[in-house]
Amino acid sequence: MTQDEMKFAVAQAALKYVVKNTIIGVGTGSTANFFIDALAKIKNDIKGAVASSKVTSQRLESHGIKVFDLNEVKAISVYIDGADESDDSLNLIKGGGGALTREKIVAAVADQFICIADESKLVTIMGDFPLPVEVIPMASNYVKQQISQRIGGTPTVRENFVTDNGNLILDIKDLKITNPKSMETELNSITGVVTNGLFANRGADVLLLGTPNDVKVVTV
Ligand code: 5RP
Repeated sequence: MTQDEMKFAVAQAALKYVVKNTIIGVGTGSTANFFIDALAKIKNDIKGAVASSKVTSQRLESHGIKVFDLNEVKAISVYIDGADESDDSLNLIKGGGGALTREKIVAAVADQFICIADESKLVTIMGDFPLPVEVIPMASNYVKQQISQRIGGTPTVRENFVTDNGNLILDIKDLKITNPKSMETELNSITGVVTNGLFANRGADVLLLGTPNDVKVVTV
């Protein structure tokens, strides 16, 4: 099975977690795109979706799925999104596509977070994938300096990239993330940081992991 076939399989498996007659949250990225395409087939079962990025919003609408502004909705039953890395406690690194802040907001509101990923994303210790941090543009040098002093690793500004919120992304290489919850909190305490791509204080509830043979359901 190719990586795309595994992404397709987990996207199909995620349909089981869609709660009928509710508004769901939908993530960003290639795995989330497979999910959006699968969701289109059952679109009449849901009231609509809240999107974690402009590009996801456009894809949902292209399938005729109603997109709600988060401030219009009272609740999100389930949030379905991919990840760049997951450990076996379902702490995640997200934000490879730069949508981490809106993803984290939608995940915070949702009753349940289902992460969908192929097996390459499951790691013992996170950090091989550079950790994204969204920063206010005027603060990028200060935040880089603070990261080097307080966290370690090598932060660099993602080139030619502006987030949906008009901000920059710093990608931190060379990290070994042994305590994701405290690192998430520490990074967010740096002035000028909007948020970072560690989803540990609110990790996934379920990881649907695509393997060459099947889709494994991982819970903590
Ligand atoms: C976007 C994300 C994505 O979920 C993450 O990058 C995984 O993407 P893909 O499914 O394409 O591997 O966090 O900001």
